This record gives sequence, structure tokens and C-alpha cells, in this order.
Amino acid sequence: MMCSSWNDLKAQCLTCKKCGLCTTRNNVVFGVGNVNSEVLLIGEGPGENEDLQGEPFVGRAGQLLDKMLNYIDLDRTKNIYITNIVKCRPPENRDPSIEEQGACIAWLRNQVFLIKPKIIVCLGRIAAMKILKPDIKITKEHGVFYEKNGILLMATLHPAALLRNPHNKPGAFEDFLNLQEKIKQICANTY
Ligand code: URA
Ligand code: SF4
Repeated sequence: MMCSSWNDLKAQCLTCKKCGLCTTRNNVVFGVGNVNSEVLLIGEGPGENEDLQGEPFVGRAGQLLDKMLNYIDLDRTKNIYITNIVKCRPPENRDPSIEEQGACIAWLRNQVFLIKPKIIVCLGRIAAMKILKPDIKITKEHGVFYEKNGILLMATLHPAALLRNPHNKPGAFEDFLNLQEKIKQICANTY
């Protein structure tokens, strides 16, 4: 059953115990941004800083993400919404398991139902596999737009991966320029 109220959805999610990650979390990281945005970004799951602060992408990777977003006039305090596949931190920042992703995805689906974004950007392999297609090769298919149920979907490299492999930054930067073009084509002129 879809929840039709954002505040109710958030309140329910903040007490969720649908998977084992609830036992080790400090905070559920529901998401951040403008719920009326036409652009939704989806990461993998909270890391240590996110778990402590209750907000996605607030560590080093998040700072890089904000910088790239701001370059194309996107801003988490204004015109985008950012969340993750799983809302609770996997211990030691391991990949969220298929079971954990499956348990958590209903929250994300309900968020998408309420936000009704025109464009979804998957940040990294985990989100791309879950949202875009299970066999995606992100090194080859990043920056490519796919259409699914009337929503445009694109995957780009995860900002944490860019910190580990800075030589991939120009490629990811191109993805963001593609994104800016697409936004100009199909989103309201408030962008
Ligand atoms: N990495 C993610 O995928 N999500 C966050 O919120 C932070 C780091
Ligand atoms: Fe619930 Fe998702 Fe947290 Fe698991 S990760 S407890 S499903 S909110």
C-alpha cells in the first residue's frame, strides 16, 4: 500500500525494522532536498557520517557530489532530492545485500510515487543495478539515458569511486553536463 502523505511516509520509515540493518544504525537516512523536484538522485546507502547525521552524502564523497551538482546549478537545498537504495548504514560500509535492498526498496518506490521525478540519476553500480538494469556495466553505460515508465534514468559513477580513481572524474563530469542538457530539454524553466 502506497502512502500518500510524505510526512507519514517519513515518520513510518524512521521507525522501520524490516531488515537487520535496523539493529546497527544510529539514524535512518530518509533523504534530503526539495520534494517537488523534477530530478531525483539515488545512492547506495548511508556511510558513517550519514548514519551519524541522518542525511545522505555529507562525507567526503558528498562534498564532491555537491561540487559537481552546483556546477550544473543543482542544489540539495533547492531543486533536487537525494536518497539511497537502503536507508540504514550497512556495517563497515559493505554493499547492502540483495535481501536488504529488497526489504528497503518499498520506501524508495513510495518516494518516487510522491515526488514524480522526470529524471532519476543512479549514483554508482549498486543503485544502477537495482533501478536501471541488473546487468549494467557502469564503466561503459554511464551517462546514457534510458526511459522506463515515463521517467528518464541515467547512471553515473559514484562520487566515492571518483575519490579512489580521480582519472574517472572527467568522464563523470561529462555525465553531469549531459544531465544539464536533458534538464534544459524536459524540465521546467526554473532549472
Ligand atoms: N554513499 C552513498 O551511496 N550514499 C550516501 O548517502 C553516502 C555515501
Ligand atoms: Fe528498514 Fe531499509 Fe533500514 Fe532495513 S535498511 S531497517 S528496510 S529502513
